[in-house]
Amino acid sequence: MIILGIETTCDETAAAVLTRIADRIQILSNIVSSSQEVHVKYGGVVPEMAAREQIRSIIPVINAALDQAKIKPQDLSAIAVSFGPGLIGSLLVGVETAKTLSLVWNRPLIPINHLLAHFYANWIQGQISDIRSPTSDTPEFPALGLLVSGGHTDLVLFKSHRKYQYLGGTRDDAAGECFDKCARLLNLPYPGGPHLSRLATFGNSARFKLPVPMRNSKDLDFSFSGLKTAVVNITASNSFDPQNPTDRSDLAASVESTIIAHLMDKLNQAFQRFKTEHILIAGGVAANYRLNQILRELQTGKTVFIPPPKLCTDNAAMVAAAAFFNPSLNDPLSLQVNPSLRL
Ligand code: KG4
Ligand code: ZN
Repeated sequence: MIILGIETTCDETAAAVLTRIADRIQILSNIVSSSQEVHVKYGGVVPEMAAREQIRSIIPVINAALDQAKIKPQDLSAIAVSFGPGLIGSLLVGVETAKTLSLVWNRPLIPINHLLAHFYANWIQGQISDIRSPTSDTPEFPALGLLVSGGHTDLVLFKSHRKYQYLGGTRDDAAGECFDKCARLLNLPYPGGPHLSRLATFGNSARFKLPVPMRNSKDLDFSFSGLKTAVVNITASNSFDPQNPTDRSDLAASVESTIIAHLMDKLNQAFQRFKTEHILIAGGVAANYRLNQILRELQTGKTVFIPPPKLCTDNAAMVAAAAFFNPSLNDPLSLQVNPSLRL
């Protein structure tokens, strides 16, 4: 089986070709073109500009994915596309392109939920990060899943590929959003997560005391807006000088460690409740180095899967990977985008 994946939910235009031989899913090509530099000067994604860049990039990106994989359209078993959630203009470009190619090439179309796709980066072989236990290189059910991206923070219990139970999610901002907004308060460029993390490297996380959200709550929800307000208050106070490199890196370190502490609190609570052998981490924030370090320490008694950084952030390989396990075929003409699709 060979699947072409297409991903255009936000500011990345991506196409990838993956193959499944027996139970092993492998990448033949994985092309990602980002319009990030267009948005940098606005401090965030401008939806109309993102959609315009999607239109510009989609055909060259798909061609590059097929060329690099040395695959012709006739070799494809199916075309998979993220149909939500995301920015409506960006989504339309990927979905309408996929519908057209499905009709012209006479190949089945597989609509994929972008949030679910993030988890499937953990099923891709040959992309194993060193965190993965060598005795077990494919996730098994039941598995606990934590999605930490720019727009979502969700905990899920996977019972099988098609069956999962939603356990909790953020009540306000997402983890990535919190990284990005706090980075903006420190005048770091968009997207701020990786920049804030770099600045935090030499900081003292104990200096600025930030509250770890929802420490005493028994549910599996998250909240990041209070943390952001606490950071606003610190940056406006006399104890913080925005020009002082030590102040900046100390605050960045506090922000990063508090976000991670909140994620780990809820992940541990969920683990205590469900005690699954496998845990799947997914989404852009999963690329965070310190989060990776802490998850590595959690390894005993369970296997934690984290995709390599390139497969944590938005890509089409995860979309194609998800399609191997969720082959719900759709009439190409009836598929509609769903900007507010949930898990
Ligand atoms: O999954 P993703 O690529 O896009 C969405 O579907 O939202 O996630 C993007 C988010 C951004 O908020 C970005 O700042 C964050 O992931 N991110 C990071 C790191 N790399 C990306 N946050 C913290 N540390 C990182 N190394
Ligand atoms: Zn995403």
